[in-house]
Amino acid sequence: MNNAVTSATYIRNLNCSTRRKLADFLDPQDRWKDVIVSIYKASGEPRYSQHHVRRFEALVAQGRSPTVELLNDWGTTNSTVGELVDILKSQKLLAAAHVLLPDIEKEPIPAKLQQASPVVEVDGTSPTRVLGETEAQPTPVSPILQPQLPSEESEPDSTGGFSSFFYHELMKITGNFDDRPMSDGGSRLGEGGFGTVYKGLINEKPVAVKRLNPMEDIPLEELRVQFNQEIQTLLVLKHENLVDMVGFSCDGQHPCLVYAYMANGSLLDRLACLDESPPLSWKRRCLIAVGTARGLEYLHNNHHVHRDVKSANILLDEAFVPKISDFGLTRASAKRSSTTMMTERIVGTRAYMAPEALRGEITPRSDIFSFGVVLLEILSGLAPADENREQQFLMELRYDIDDEDDDLTLEDFLDTKMRDWELAQVESVYSLACSCLNERKIRRPAIKQVLSELEEVVKSISLKAQVQQ
Ligand SMILES: Nc1ncnc2c1ncn2[C@@H]1O[C@H](COP(=O)(O)OP(=O)(O)OP(=O)(O)O)[C@@H](O)[C@H]1O
Ligand SMILES: [Mg+2]
Repeated sequence: MNNAVTSATYIRNLNCSTRRKLADFLDPQDRWKDVIVSIYKASGEPRYSQHHVRRFEALVAQGRSPTVELLNDWGTTNSTVGELVDILKSQKLLAAAHVLLPDIEKEPIPAKLQQASPVVEVDGTSPTRVLGETEAQPTPVSPILQPQLPSEESEPDSTGGFSSFFYHELMKITGNFDDRPMSDGGSRLGEGGFGTVYKGLINEKPVAVKRLNPMEDIPLEELRVQFNQEIQTLLVLKHENLVDMVGFSCDGQHPCLVYAYMANGSLLDRLACLDESPPLSWKRRCLIAVGTARGLEYLHNNHHVHRDVKSANILLDEAFVPKISDFGLTRASAKRSSTTMMTERIVGTRAYMAPEALRGEITPRSDIFSFGVVLLEILSGLAPADENREQQFLMELRYDIDDEDDDLTLEDFLDTKMRDWELAQVESVYSLACSCLNERKIRRPAIKQVLSELEEVVKSISLKAQVQQ
């Protein structure tokens, strides 16, 4: 992937895709700032001042990546990849260093991760043993899959509250990764672009285990980066509307990620009333939209672009609180969707992609576009892509609604499975969806505005309910 890069390569010779990969690791949580303060001139003075830092910070608001801009700027000198890797290593940004020089995976791993421990801290309090397995088992740690966790988490709880599981424990709690659906007595909850998700119980607490599969178009190497990225991202980003990770496993044939189980599955499945689940009311749909916008606002405020916002990645807990999932596992989907292969999954992701995202540009405004498609799904209950429909992509239906000569009205578009809507409210949400779907990214609202408009709608629903009481 990046074979030609060595320590002696000049930073200016790094290609765009490598720069973007570095940005994936360094933009979130402003980790690029740890790098910038470690860059010195030959004279020994810092190369960048606070003034420079502020200039790079300001780029975020324009949807640009401070890491990429920093590399562009630093690349005007004769600095090398070796210098950058040294800085990344000193800041314990090993996953980013690995993007440049894969060999540095021989780096020491925090002791706690060298062996998968049979002790599991599910609730982050007292350690409890899983499944009564007490005998120490030899644990082959895959040389290819090692989570590289950020430095600040290394003491004393190096997994930041995450647990490291034995693969065989996860096998046990999922009935050997029983592929039959739950309704047939199996454990399978669903399948996505990176693997299959199974339900299991740890100390009577339900969890969802995502077993990652290397695939033809995603080599194990790339999967490893995804795996590390997901863990690193979930360690630092915590919010009521983001999915909670419980732990991971990296000692078996497949890397696994373990998440809190979301009793009501995905928004995609609930809108489709899969397994005969009751339709979601308009009020509930609006609350889900607001919660999701809050999660996205948090991600964007932390300079994180999700890049795979879709109703399958909005999970619902037992109280239907939405939780955004998969914010680390996005690069490969974006890559796959730009291929010409039209598998069902690729079409699924394509159905949410902004024009600039299709060209590979990464900006928070592309998440806004995808969220616009989710709002159309919430309004209509229709699938985001359906090849048997005249307009294959849901986002295209808006042209029919807006076209005076076309018979399709907003009311026809609405999901007939919900009744409690008011015209003014659905009009507001529809008009917001259309602004989010503006082809020109600068014309789309920022997440703050999206959230405040949705909050207004929820307020009007609550006010109406009060009046009726
Ligand atoms: N924490 C969870 N709790 C309950 N169900 C889950 C959980 N995580 C995933 N699922 C179920 O498994 C399905 C597959 O999830 P997965 O993330 O692998 O695929 P996806 O979201 O459809 O696509 P992608 O791979 O692009 O994210 C989800 O749609 C959901 O139904
Ligand atoms: Mg997903």
